[in-house]
Amino acid sequence: MHHKPLPALCHKMLSRHSSDRGKGMRMNQIALSTEALPHWVMPDFAGDPYPHYHLLRAASPVYRLPIGFWIVTRYKDISNLFKDPRFARDYSYDMHRTYGPGAFDEPLFDAMRRMMLFLEPPDHPRVRSLVAKAFSARRIEDLRPTIRTIVKDLLDQMQARAQFDLVGTFAAELPIRIIAHLMGLTSAEYARMTQPFRFAGRMLDLMPMSRAELDDGNRLIGNFKDAFKDALDMRRASPRDDLITHLMQVQETGDRLSHDELTANIILLFVAGYETTSNLIGNAVLALLSHPAELARVRNDGVITQNAVDELLRYDTPVQFTGRTVMEDLVFEGEDLRKGDFVVACLGAGNRDPDAFDRPDELNLLREGVRPLSFGGGIHFCLGAQLAKIESEIALSMLFERFPKLRLSGSEPFRWKPGFVVRGLQFLHVEHV
Ligand code: HEM
Repeated sequence: MHHKPLPALCHKMLSRHSSDRGKGMRMNQIALSTEALPHWVMPDFAGDPYPHYHLLRAASPVYRLPIGFWIVTRYKDISNLFKDPRFARDYSYDMHRTYGPGAFDEPLFDAMRRMMLFLEPPDHPRVRSLVAKAFSARRIEDLRPTIRTIVKDLLDQMQARAQFDLVGTFAAELPIRIIAHLMGLTSAEYARMTQPFRFAGRMLDLMPMSRAELDDGNRLIGNFKDAFKDALDMRRASPRDDLITHLMQVQETGDRLSHDELTANIILLFVAGYETTSNLIGNAVLALLSHPAELARVRNDGVITQNAVDELLRYDTPVQFTGRTVMEDLVFEGEDLRKGDFVVACLGAGNRDPDAFDRPDELNLLREGVRPLSFGGGIHFCLGAQLAKIESEIALSMLFERFPKLRLSGSEPFRWKPGFVVRGLQFLHVEHV
């Protein structure tokens, strides 16, 4: 197995790159190696990756990184590859390549390979269609009053303090409480079952995990499985009107979903819905507090519209990358891609593509018809997109209504969470008086 901490991996990436230079790489790639790529491992990348994406997109929109995978940065190319079945999930192949033949002996990876996010047809529609029933537009709309109540409770707790960390007290709390509500978790279950999800960002990242991280992940998955088994036993004895009971009944009355698939996809809902939405709220508050004219619009209108949420998602997307495997040799935008190549779609770059958005680096809440790439596309288009948008719309509207003087506080520099895939702040100190 290879376990490389990020700096070592990037180091290797760069040194391999320089040794590749004499081996017939194209000119634009050589130029890029000395200009764009080294910045990606420099501290300012996390603070503001967008200038680096612009450089990469302009120099080589479908670029082969020296470590062997491709990175795609144009909006239209990313949209196209999501719809093209020749770019698919080949999770076993990817995991064996990264972690060796024993990858699925690790309980964490064994669970992940059953998650719909890593499945392709025919398994993907079978699993997704069952879980999707709980996410129908109607059901999600019906959650509005519950979301308002949860937001109000959190704001009440924050009100007592003049200063607080908006991430810890609000952005990170809201999504997990809402998913727990959907699942119908009791408070004892909440304490046992929400633990693994602090690990979510790491699970979804493209960088390989270290042995220590993997041990941590395996332990959390083991704990979750025990807790989930107890939750199922309890609902079998007395069924409830909640997502877990509903899916358990589907699983036990047919042969369409195995117990392991059910467990894995419940984990996925927490993982996919927690840190993403939390970071959307955190990144959006930072964006608004840093753009007084846009903030004034929110304060004057008193509400954040769904369109404004789309613009905030576009401006600083909480999911920056996702990946696909090339299923057959093909030519994509003039580049020869080989079966088995890994392709990274850079959603953050596509969202700032000047060919897709006028003045892409500006935040403009009135921008019309914004369709960010933040929720992916094709068969894996985010199942929780509507929920995430409604949650954020309510959370941001109520936050700025309750605290009309909200502003940044503290002198500590912003610290972004480690990793490439998930983009979010570790904390955001604000004050409201
Ligand atoms: C701002 C918040 C969110 C963002 C930015 C986001 C982003 C994404 C993206 C980019 C994908 C597709 C990945 C790919 O194609 O490779 C995805 C898939 C998914 N998301 Fe979200 N997500 C968010 C919130 C949620 C929520 C709240 C839930 C549910 C509670 C959720 C559940 C899922 C599921 C189940 C999938 C897999 C769908 C499939 O493979 O068919 N997400 N999400």
